[in-house]
Amino acid sequence: MKALILSGGKGTRLRPLTYTGAKQLVPVANKPILWYGIEEMVAAGIKDIGIIISPETGAEVRNKTGNGDRFNANITYILQEQPAGLAHAVKVALPFLGDSPFLMYLGDNLIQQGDLSYFLQEFNQQQPDALILLRQVSNPSAFGVAKVDDTGRVLQLIEKPKEPPSNLALVGVYFFSPIIHDAIAAIQPSARGELEITDAIQSLIDWQKQVVACNLDGWWLDTGKKDDLLEANRLILDTYLTKSIVGDVDTNSQIIGRVQIGANSQIINCTIRGPVVIGSGCHLENCFIGPYSSIANNTTLIDTDLEHSVVLEGAKIIGIHDRIIDSVIGYRAQLTVAPRRPKALRFLIGDDCQIELT
Ligand code: TTP
Repeated sequence: MKALILSGGKGTRLRPLTYTGAKQLVPVANKPILWYGIEEMVAAGIKDIGIIISPETGAEVRNKTGNGDRFNANITYILQEQPAGLAHAVKVALPFLGDSPFLMYLGDNLIQQGDLSYFLQEFNQQQPDALILLRQVSNPSAFGVAKVDDTGRVLQLIEKPKEPPSNLALVGVYFFSPIIHDAIAAIQPSARGELEITDAIQSLIDWQKQVVACNLDGWWLDTGKKDDLLEANRLILDTYLTKSIVGDVDTNSQIIGRVQIGANSQIINCTIRGPVVIGSGCHLENCFIGPYSSIANNTTLIDTDLEHSVVLEGAKIIGIHDRIIDSVIGYRAQLTVAPRRPKALRFLIGDDCQIELT
């Protein structure tokens, strides 16, 4: 059994963060999203992992993630020249996949830890041609939707249907036997010009192959948009964060609940109410940091109130008097107050940024 993680794509929904970096490397609870998937695979016993990368962000993904040693896995990088669809990515990965059955995993998705082992076991026991994961959603029209019979056999897949036949959405995790390559070879690009994996799976169904579904009861998050990213951050901090304080905390500071503070970080006169993770090399002074916040390495926060937010590496927030909530502050972004006249707002805002002032 091999695994294929898709970590190419355009990442348009997470702009502006994805202008400068891969969306799969954006951290959730200070760890790249992509790494959660890799760790889950290794925990399930899958160690031969291929990662699809794009020409734009491939080097960054490769440099950050490495050859797999840190995960006890063996990672092969596979360049997809164009983001021409999920099935196209599988086609490009054929030399890596060979005739092995494989798990396909979208690199910006997160599923509850521990679930992958269970689904792998189901796949090995049932030995279907494909096993897909489905989850009940309230807005099925926004997803690929499946029609399933009582035995769990998939009858039909429809991409973003106007009138959904069920509320079961396709989660970005699939198990395939090598026959999927024949199905991919037989499909044509869709109206949006991509080779769709749903079309390939539908071909298997049309060929009377065995396509089965399992329901995912645990959580599933597609971190492609800001609010999903914040929700993923909340869930991971809520579920897994344990208390660990390595950096320096002065006696005027109050640390409440599950809080992690990394090495060489200084916390001066702050109140930090967990769950909160703070990386290494950070300087926090006169701050209130509220629950569900992740603050990456080498950030500076002074005279700042912040809650339910993600602050990326190298950012600086100084002297903002209003509380910052539900926010993602990008790499090296600076949010400061200048003591000069005229008293005014001065911006240098990158493309596609969103700023809401009161
Ligand atoms: P999507 O989020 O569906 O596509 P995208 O990355 O182009 O994002 P956006 O809609 O914001 O523009 O892709 C799901 C995952 O699959 C994501 O991790 C990127 C990856 N992917 C590839 O590796 N190759 C591809 O051809 C496509 C379409 C996606």
